[in-house]
Amino acid sequence: MRGARYRLWQFWRLITQRLSPDELTQVREWLPPSLFDVFRQMSPAEQHHAYSVRHTLAAQGQTNPDLLAAALLHDVGKSRMPLAVWEKVAIVLGFRFAKRLATAWGSREGGSRWRRPFVVAMQHPAWGAEMVNAAGGSPTLVELIRRHQDRITPTEDLYDLLSALQSADNSN
Ligand SMILES: [Fe+2]
Ligand SMILES: [Fe+2]
Repeated sequence: MRGARYRLWQFWRLITQRLSPDELTQVREWLPPSLFDVFRQMSPAEQHHAYSVRHTLAAQGQTNPDLLAAALLHDVGKSRMPLAVWEKVAIVLGFRFAKRLATAWGSREGGSRWRRPFVVAMQHPAWGAEMVNAAGGSPTLVELIRRHQDRITPTEDLYDLLSALQSADNSN
């Protein structure tokens, strides 16, 4: 886990950056129409984050189509419950300074409104996997999204793809 200051800087970029029209055209070429529609449900800043994760992987020479699509779509579950800026700050600080509590708050849906950010932080991989599955994504793509923030072990099938996705996600 990087320092809180790095996380807050990363967070500031996450909420202020936008895709250019050319970048958006590229994404439209990379994804089939049904998945492009899902991509567009994300906030502009989240679309930019997703594009950056894909860019990092492509620059590393990654060519697996499910991995590159997962880069673009891994956070689409966040569009199910859009958060205010202060709620996004709460996620960064909560998981940094009160990880066990934040995990408990986020581990089930419902409950008090102030728990919402932690619910989104922990549930968006499952929500995104459902959305991409419903839009016709491949089983591998759906699994990469569902597991994109799980703790993974080298013995599992998708380890190489998941670890590449997680490290690109963390550096963007
Ligand atoms: Fe995520
Ligand atoms: Fe992400």
